[in-house]
Amino acid sequence: MKKKVEFLSEFLKKGRKVGSVTPSSRFLVKKMVDPIDWEHSNCIIELGPGNGVITREILKKMRKDGKLLAFEINESFCEDLRAIGDERLIVINDSAEKLAEYLEKYQIAKADHVVSSLPFAIIPRETEYSIMRAIAKVLSRKGVYTQFQYSLASYRKLKGIFKSVKLNFTPYNIPPAFVFTCRNA
Ligand SMILES: C[S@@+](CC[C@H](N)C(=O)[O-])C[C@H]1O[C@@H](n2cnc3c(N)ncnc32)[C@H](O)[C@@H]1O
Repeated sequence: MKKKVEFLSEFLKKGRKVGSVTPSSRFLVKKMVDPIDWEHSNCIIELGPGNGVITREILKKMRKDGKLLAFEINESFCEDLRAIGDERLIVINDSAEKLAEYLEKYQIAKADHVVSSLPFAIIPRETEYSIMRAIAKVLSRKGVYTQFQYSLASYRKLKGIFKSVKLNFTPYNIPPAFVFTCRNA
């Protein structure tokens, strides 16, 4: 409950940039992380983790020697993420637009999975394309990128960049959400 109140409060302060009034439901979280091959994933990237509802689920299941890079522009959410206190989690208080720059900094060539809740509906079109291209570039051959959205607006754009894009949906979220599962191969 505390997490929901905090989320709403950030929405009221930062408005549309947060992209939602409440954290994702457990049904949506499950759809976002289900495609992850836990055994073979060393490096996972999360974009727009908010106060960590998906992050915690990833950390619960991720390998002990794994690494999770989380990009979040909201400083208050970053404090919550740091408070999780897991040494596998690297919190980056910066925009997902700088994905390539940080991967170079952390000497990461490929990510096994990218999990994104970025609110593309409110991100400029060119930035949206550039983030999608950066994700495609970093994703390993067998890697999977999951993205949820509250509309189908990104579907065609994703299909133009990734070789395979599967569409899923859950009505059990506020608001109901579409989940795109994208692969390079
Ligand atoms: C819809 S919320 C999702 C939060 C959480 N992952 C969940 O599922 O409940 C989107 C999050 O993306 C963050 N965000 C928005 N634009 C971003 C950007 N360019 N780079 C990184 N994070 C961003 C917002 O601050 C917000 O925390």
